[in-house]
Formats: sequence, C-alpha cells, structure tokens
Amino acid sequence: MTPPDLPTLLSTRLRLRAVTEDDTAFVQDLYARPEVTEFIGTTDWVETTREQSLARIHRYRAAAGRAAGIWLVETVEGRRALGVALLKPIPRSVRLADSRAQAGLAQDTEIGWHLHPDAWGHGYAIEAARALLAHARRRGLTEVVAVTHPRNVASQRVAERIGMTHQGTTDRYYDTTCALFTLTL
Ligand SMILES: CC(C)(COP(=O)(O)OP(=O)(O)OC[C@H]1O[C@@H](n2cnc3c(N)ncnc32)[C@H](O)[C@@H]1OP(=O)(O)O)[C@@H](O)C(=O)NCCC(=O)NCCS
Repeated sequence: MTPPDLPTLLSTRLRLRAVTEDDTAFVQDLYARPEVTEFIGTTDWVETTREQSLARIHRYRAAAGRAAGIWLVETVEGRRALGVALLKPIPRSVRLADSRAQAGLAQDTEIGWHLHPDAWGHGYAIEAARALLAHARRRGLTEVVAVTHPRNVASQRVAERIGMTHQGTTDRYYDTTCALFTLTL
C-alpha cells in the first residue's frame, strides 16, 4: 500500500509522511471536530466513523503524484500527529472546468493545511507549508494557489506568512467564492 511517489519531507520540527491506516484514530479525531471542518468545503460536515476515516485515508494516499500529495504532519521528536498538509490539483468550478480543459490548460495546484486544534498556534502550519513549497520547487512546479473561506483569517495568515499574494476573491474553484492567494515559485 505504498504510494507511488510520496517522499517524506523534513523540516526543523516536522516530518511530513504518507498517511497510513495506522493513522485512522487521529484522522477520525481531526475531521470529527467542527472547528477543523468549519471552513473546509461548502457545507456543514464532520466525519465521525472509522469507515469514513479509512475512506479518507485511501483517497489521501491515492492523491500522490509527481508534485502532488497529501501528507500526515507529525513532530520529528516523539512522532506526535499534528494534522494534514496537501499539494494537489484544485478542482475548477463546474462552469469553468470544460472551457479550461478544452483550451488544453493544466490544472492549478493547491497548497493546503488542516491541523488538529491541539497543534494550533505553534507555527506548525507555516513550517509544514514551507516544506511543501520546497518540495514543489524541486518537482518543477511554477505556481501554487491557496483558497480559503473569506472568514478563515488563520488560514489567510498562513498563506501570507509563506509569501503568497492575496488576489481578492474568486469563484474559479470549488463552485464557491473564496479568498485567493497565489505564489510564483
Ligand atoms: C489554518 C490553521 C492550519 C492555522 O494553524 P495555526 O497553528 O494557527 O498556524 P500557525 O501557528 O502556523 O500560524 C498561523 C498564523 O496565523 C495567525 N493566526 C492563527 N489563528 C488566527 C486567528 N484566529 N486570527 C488571526 N490570526 C490567526 C497566527 O498568529 C500566525 O501568524 P503570526 O505568526 O504572524 O502571528 C488552523 O487554524 C487549522 O487547521 N484550521 C482548521 C482547518 C482549516 O481551516 N484549514 C484551512 C482550510 S483553507
């Protein structure tokens, strides 16, 4: 069950590695929390069952690609699970997806972060995101985007702290209106 190409990424305090079924209890705890899911997606949701968490882990493992992946973020010291960090093709809004595909344009790559509330406030999201940016550069990506709920100021702050530029709001992705951040690598 090893993903094809998901290298472990290291930073000073963090290890970003492939998520496995051994992480099910953590993933279940993470996405069962309304404060975590509040600004993820466009509907109110939480996932509380082991089955939902296992399905999520399998989706996350399947997201591994040349410059894409969804990583479990843990501390180097003590291997304490902190959350999830991602680099992945971002879905265009339906009304735009066809025209973009017809024009033969590549999909944009999204960078993102979902941390457990116990890990908030220690700069871990910023540190994990910087590790992802270094990986993206090594893999030849030239731009990443981040989208946040317009009220998700914590996530917007992370985007700014890693050098992303706030481009205003957009309805280009996920069939919703988001704050858009971009970074040329
Ligand atoms: C977004 C998230 C990862 C930020 O985690 P964090 O641990 O606070 O992040 P960091 O400690 O790395 O840094 C966050 C920065 O935002 C600031 N910040 C954090 N919470 C904030 C808030 N509620 N309001 C304003 N600023 C905030 C911090 O002060 C820090 O900036 P600074 O270093 O300039 O002071 C975390 O809140 C989270 O996982 N939320 C739930 C999932 C989510 O919404 N993900 C994003 C989807 S787009």
